[in-house]
This record gives sequence, structure tokens and C-alpha cells, in this order.
Amino acid sequence: MTQAGVSAPGRARIAEKTLRTDNWWRSPLITGSVLVFFIVYATVRIFMNKWYWSDQNHYLTPIYSPCVNESCVPGSSHLGHWFGSWPVFIPIALITFVVLAGFRGTCYYYRKAGYRSLFMAPAACAVPEPHKKYTGESKFPLVLLNLHRYFFYGAILFGLLNVWDGIQAFRGEDGGFGFGLGTVIIWVNLVMLWFYTLSCHACRHIVGGKLKHFSKHPLRYRYWNFVSKLNVNHGRYAMTSLITVIVTDAYIMAVSAGWFADLRFVN
Ligand code: FES
Repeated sequence: MTQAGVSAPGRARIAEKTLRTDNWWRSPLITGSVLVFFIVYATVRIFMNKWYWSDQNHYLTPIYSPCVNESCVPGSSHLGHWFGSWPVFIPIALITFVVLAGFRGTCYYYRKAGYRSLFMAPAACAVPEPHKKYTGESKFPLVLLNLHRYFFYGAILFGLLNVWDGIQAFRGEDGGFGFGLGTVIIWVNLVMLWFYTLSCHACRHIVGGKLKHFSKHPLRYRYWNFVSKLNVNHGRYAMTSLITVIVTDAYIMAVSAGWFADLRFVN
């Protein structure tokens, strides 16, 4: 087997692990900690199968949206029931989880973050990686990362469903207009989710790719410019929206479980 990385023939033999003297490990450590926390949190939440809907305030957590299973608690199925009841060991949020985990898991930013923070491949520039072999993303399972653009279509659909949930959150206790702190949290999360989704690299390619002349497609050029501006901050939106999803879910869980009441501004 041909040696790769720092062991490749022709590379200078240096005893030190890296010649970098700055805090290169800080960024992957912080990113990795957030990712691990989210993975553990999402896994626990998905298998809880409860505290995802506040009937009093009409809040549905994005992790369980859309709730289209007959096992969903009354009121939470805005879009009706697409499936019968599932056995208790199957998460109600299974479909949402597959689409959203697929979208984030194949995202170019999270790939970079995962390679650096979790697999140390490599952890930073000019820092050697522990792996001896490099096969890129050409083999199973990493070749599945190429499905990203299809998960993007799913994320757009689920993003629209989240907007519908956000509109429901403007209902008061008597069914009329009302909103509370939960509504504000839900909408901040929605804005961050849409920034993250629309700044996607696949989105940029879909709106502006495969063209020879932008001058002949002024509208697509406009979209491409818009997405390109968002795309510059894609990594920031990826991490911020991850945190807002957790905050939104945790808040709705707390209100739904009765740990504290929603702070109401109207009604
Ligand atoms: Fe990150 Fe598409 S590249 S969501």
C-alpha cells in the first residue's frame, strides 16, 4: 500500500507532529463539541416521542414537524395523518429525522467540520492526520454524500412546512390571534433555517449553474447573486441554525411538559 499524507515518499521527515504554534486545535474542538452535543440531544429527543406539541399555544417543535402519524398527540397534525400508528419503538419523527439529518450530514460545511473536528482528517492546515490511506468520497458510505442536492429539495419542502407551523404559532388560547415568547423563538429559528437552506452550495448551483451566459438569463443571474451573497456565510448559518433548532425544541419541550408557562404577549 502506498503511504499517504505526511508519510508519503518525498515528504520531508519532521519529528514534530506539527510546526504550528498557534491555537489551531481551538476551532475544531469547539465545533466538534457543538456537533457531538447536537447528535446526542437530537437522538435523545427523537426517541422520547413526547413533549413536542404545546396544545395551549399551538407550538410544534421543528424536530417533530410535520407530525403526520396517527400516534401524534391530538392537535399536532396540521397536515392530517399520512400513516397509521407506529410501534412505540419507532420514532414519530423518523421521516423528519431522515430528511434533516441527511441534509445536514451531507452539507459541504458539515463535511468540512466533521472531517476536521471528528475525524481529524486533517484537524487543521499543516497538521498531519492519523489516517494512512485516502480514498476521498468515492467509496461507500462516503459516496452517499453526493446525494446532497436531493436532500436539499427535501429541506425546502420541510422548510415550507415549518413556516406553516410558525403561522399556527400566532394563534391564541381561544383560537384567535395571539403570540408569546415561543412564537418569537420559532420565527427566529425559521429565519436562521431559511438563511442556512438558501445559502446552500447546491442551491447556488441549481439557480446559477449549467449556464454559458448570465447575460441571457438575467433573472437567474439575480438569484445567483443573492444566493452567492448568503453563501459566503453558509458556515455561520449552519452553526447558528443548529443552535436555534435546539433552543426552539428545548423551549417547546419545557412548555409542553409544564416545566414553565409560555410568556404571552398577546392573549
Ligand atoms: Fe450546506 Fe448545502 S452545502 S446545506
